[in-house]
Amino acid sequence: MAANAATGNVNEHGYKVLTLGNYSFSRDEYFVHIQWPGGSHLMPADRFLRALMRDVAWNFFYGIVNFDEVFGTVNHYGTVDVFAGLFNAGYRSRNKHYVENFDGELARTTLGQILEDWTIEGFDPFAAPEETGIAFGPKRGNNQRAVTRKRVVARRMAGLADDTPLRSDSSGFPINRQFQDVAQDEPEVHAEPGFENEVHAMSLFAYLSRSDVTWNPSVSSVCGRSLCCPTTEEYILPIKHGNDRVEWFMQLSDEIVWEVEDKISGAMRAKVRMRAGDVAAMPADIRHQGYSPKRSMLLVWENATPGLPEMYDSGKLKPYPIEF
Ligand code: PHB
Ligand code: FE
Repeated sequence: MAANAATGNVNEHGYKVLTLGNYSFSRDEYFVHIQWPGGSHLMPADRFLRALMRDVAWNFFYGIVNFDEVFGTVNHYGTVDVFAGLFNAGYRSRNKHYVENFDGELARTTLGQILEDWTIEGFDPFAAPEETGIAFGPKRGNNQRAVTRKRVVARRMAGLADDTPLRSDSSGFPINRQFQDVAQDEPEVHAEPGFENEVHAMSLFAYLSRSDVTWNPSVSSVCGRSLCCPTTEEYILPIKHGNDRVEWFMQLSDEIVWEVEDKISGAMRAKVRMRAGDVAAMPADIRHQGYSPKRSMLLVWENATPGLPEMYDSGKLKPYPIEF
């Protein structure tokens, strides 16, 4: 496992140059530059920061987070691979791919430092493009509030007394401009005496209409290993997620188009247009990226059963949940 050697040099654009193992990261006014032994890569700064924000906030998520066609991370739940070209057929065919394994906490700390330093005043990597300033230009201030947002993770269910709260104007979550028509009434709960702590209900539509972030599944309720992770989407999912398990999607409102590719090679497999009410099982052997023309509500249903990635890798489980 490589050790961290973050340097913290500042370049002529005012941004820190940081290293993680043999990787070096720098940015200029428009681009991020990544170097590793035997290669280098460049990405637009906004695209990189939007992907990095999610990778850090989600603690490397489930499976693979591709920032683009070249760079990304593989979560091994404790350690993480940081790769270049690993899931790119061109790099692989020439043996040009590069992978380094790190302690998860160490990698997250360094990547978090990059995120903090490179996110300038006015840019919010979690916000929709229409609801944020730009990521470009020389180093100018920061956006600490945005980059340190905690991902909402309910213990049982949002709105319970000892759990993550519902959202309201007064708690700083106004109804989003594109969800002004969403009803805000809450269900009435009449529990039998003695069951007040066991019975609960909330309006998921009202809850999501007040989300201030995009492409950020939050755990809003939990049943055993089953995680209900709704999210509001607008513009493009800033990562290509390589699944390490089946994920169920339920389109709750509006429309998302998904590009589905082979997880390893990136070869195109399908385009899926999901309209409100549509349900899809995204297989365990794909990567996908969503396009949402207007803000929409999506329910991502995750299965957090330990050992699932190994069961798919070994072929014990098929990559899809049903055969027709
Ligand atoms: C996914 O990759 O499954 C994913 C990630 C973020 C979202 C929705 C879906 O907002
Ligand atoms: Fe996914």
